[in-house]
Amino acid sequence: MTATEERVFVKPPSEVAKQRRGEIEDASRLPVKVKIRSLNFYYGGQQALFNNSIDIPAFRVTAIIGPSGCGKSTHIRVYNRIFEIYRSHRAEGIVEIDGKNVLSPVTDLLKLRKKVGMIFQRPTPFPMSIYDNIAYGIKLHYRASRGEIADRVEDALKRGALWGEVKDKLSEPATALSGGQQQRLCIARAIAVEPELILMDEPCSAIDPVATSKIEDLIETLRDSYTVVLVPHNMQQAARVSDFTAFFYKGHIVEFGPTKKIFTNPDNKQTEDYITGRFG
Ligand SMILES: Nc1ncnc2c1ncn2[C@@H]1O[C@H](COP(=O)(O)OP(=O)(O)OP(=O)(O)O)[C@@H](O)[C@H]1O
Ligand SMILES: [Mg+2]
Repeated sequence: MTATEERVFVKPPSEVAKQRRGEIEDASRLPVKVKIRSLNFYYGGQQALFNNSIDIPAFRVTAIIGPSGCGKSTHIRVYNRIFEIYRSHRAEGIVEIDGKNVLSPVTDLLKLRKKVGMIFQRPTPFPMSIYDNIAYGIKLHYRASRGEIADRVEDALKRGALWGEVKDKLSEPATALSGGQQQRLCIARAIAVEPELILMDEPCSAIDPVATSKIEDLIETLRDSYTVVLVPHNMQQAARVSDFTAFFYKGHIVEFGPTKKIFTNPDNKQTEDYITGRFG
């Protein structure tokens, strides 16, 4: 396929997103990016996840909701094995990304973390310039000339919806940016190494409403190129930005389905009680 044909074939994100918004899709008919079966997780002797099984659809935003302490962060931290920095933390079960079990001892962690990017609750810029924050991962994963790196940095900052605000001060420290800008920088940094899956754990909880709405718009544009798994800041955010929602309770996945259905007509009584604010 030539580049021109490809461009005709791939619709611009906003068009695709617009068409899909409001539709209720059947997750079982979509390609699966992450297939999880019987996932159990332990903090030392304390079990935090019980028998989690879920299929995360590719090129969609899936929200993970549930009361504090129900295991949302624990669950998504398994996807890129970031939990392993602590020796006593242990995951058992199957977590297949594109058909490969990432929990296998032969998984190449550098490659896994390139493929599965992560955005945390608080922005985590490196203590270096805006430019170097983005260039760092590119240099780590690719052999690229200075010119190619510069192009990729610009592209990532554009896709991170930050370019316009920083293009004239790329050599300034990233820590001088506002919290919301830092969070978009972290998203751009993740995008720069061309991940396929982006995990976001309450990415808006430390920033103001205007910055939050910019990040939400950004998530909207991401869903057509990446698979996003998001722990939203609150239920309204899940309703606004996600296609699918999983409701977690005490380490169990109680219900998973199209966000619209989960929020208007859930199958499970516990889900309904949570959605309607009877507990939480
Ligand atoms: N480092 C840790 N060591 C021991 N137990 C932990 C650790 N981190 C989390 N837990 C426990 O695991 C369970 C799930 O925690 P987790 O942080 O995944 O919940 P969460 O749904 O993300 O909560 P929140 O909405 O408050 O972020 C909780 O009971 C918590 O106390
Ligand atoms: Mg959490």
